[in-house]
Amino acid sequence: MAEAPKKQPKLLPIVRKVGDLRAEVAKWRRDNLAVALVPTMGALHDGHISLLQAARRRVDKVVVSIFVNPTQFGPTEDFSKYPRQEAADVEKLIKARCDLLYAPTVDEMYPEGAATTVHVGGVSEGLCGASRPGHFDGVATIVSKLLNQAQPDIAVFGEKDYQQLQVIKRATADLDIPVKIVGAETVREEDGLAMSSRNAYLSAEERAIAKQFPWVLSALAIEISKRPDDFGRRVQNARKLLTDSGIDKVDYLEVRDAETLEPVTTIDRPARVFGAVFIGKTRLIDNMPIPPRK
Ligand code: PAF
Repeated sequence: MAEAPKKQPKLLPIVRKVGDLRAEVAKWRRDNLAVALVPTMGALHDGHISLLQAARRRVDKVVVSIFVNPTQFGPTEDFSKYPRQEAADVEKLIKARCDLLYAPTVDEMYPEGAATTVHVGGVSEGLCGASRPGHFDGVATIVSKLLNQAQPDIAVFGEKDYQQLQVIKRATADLDIPVKIVGAETVREEDGLAMSSRNAYLSAEERAIAKQFPWVLSALAIEISKRPDDFGRRVQNARKLLTDSGIDKVDYLEVRDAETLEPVTTIDRPARVFGAVFIGKTRLIDNMPIPPRK
């Protein structure tokens, strides 16, 4: 009996140089294939995989980038301890049928002499922009570079980082970068906590407290939808609910326009509730749309 053909182990091509990335993408372009970029900082979870799947539904080839970008971390933030686990990430990307991993070094992304920063006004102000000065400059700079390097047709980002998504939309429009920015819905754990690489920092006790965060946001969003004026007191009550549930500090809890991210005091256009909290040393963010009034 003829021997069954051995299954070839699936491989994931990995490139670390801009030139190699461009050469791979150019091959696809010659075959008229549409290309997506999914930028990440690695430590991949199901939320990232859902971005890859959203990309795959729209194009022929998906590039995922993994780069822990030093310029978006403040001096007291978690850059050095941010989880780095390329081998495990590669396994997940193979399973998710990623076509190419771009994992450049810091020197490749910021060669000596690099002196340009992309600063986005308006949408980068307030919320995380207020608590993390310079963060969105780092994000806008690295994402502009990644988009110029890969030149994809689309790029996919999660709505969990909703302000980041708006900053990137603004930057690509203002800089005429020819790419469609796609926002993908937040993926949540069974108890509602938004998936995030930073969830791995939480102890079991902190993780139990963290599950209150999305529920308080969601209850507030529903409350505001029912009575869309004068909701200042209800936002204050929700802050108290968060700290009463064991959350150490509420960094912000605000209602803002879903597009411009300007603060709103009445709901007469799409708006969202935005929150950032500290549980121990871990900072978590989340946001939810105010449901349309029934
Ligand atoms: O959301 C992230 O993981 C990062 O901010 C991004 C978009 C990959 C830029 O470094």
